[in-house]
Amino acid sequence: MKKIAILASGNGTNAEAIITHFESVPHAKVVLIGSNKETAYVLQRAKNHQIQSFTFSKKELENGSVKALLLVKNIDLLVLAGFMMKVPEDMIQAFPKSIVNIHPALLPKFGGKGMYGMRVHEAVKAAGEKETGITIHWVNEHYDEGEIILQEKVALSETDTAEQIAEKVHQLEYKYYPKVIESLI
Ligand code: GAR
Repeated sequence: MKKIAILASGNGTNAEAIITHFESVPHAKVVLIGSNKETAYVLQRAKNHQIQSFTFSKKELENGSVKALLLVKNIDLLVLAGFMMKVPEDMIQAFPKSIVNIHPALLPKFGGKGMYGMRVHEAVKAAGEKETGITIHWVNEHYDEGEIILQEKVALSETDTAEQIAEKVHQLEYKYYPKVIESLI
């Protein structure tokens, strides 16, 4: 059985979609959920699904503690789902081509440091974009620059608010991220 770990910083609706998807996949499961925020709702979601969870500080991410736990647990694929911290280089080296991220826009547009969550949708709105979408990509040592696995687009109308853009993007995320993860594992 292949083991998936998820790192998330917030609500965790993507994590929920992934957990639920893999509940009916026989050869892979979400076995661990980690968050850098003690109050992140994703931790409650882990509890609801009886999945082991843990929290960690920036220091623990950077000093190898998180990496050590993932290695002990024999994680096959590390999934970032709304994870707002930079993955340290030693972790990337410990999990070659085994860390995947979803970005809520069409990279390379609206990516890079400081571009996450609602900030992305606000920037898309401010730029008057006619479309946006999702980018699923491998994680390398540069923010949002790893090899792209899949991009999907959605049309925007001039009247869409940043919240409505976020909702359209979320729908794409729930539809594609679990399936792409399944194809990778
Ligand atoms: C998602 O839209 C995800 O693409 C984005 O954060 C949101 C988390 O929502 N990730 C990033 O911006 C990473 N740079 P969720 O907690 O409800 O899954």
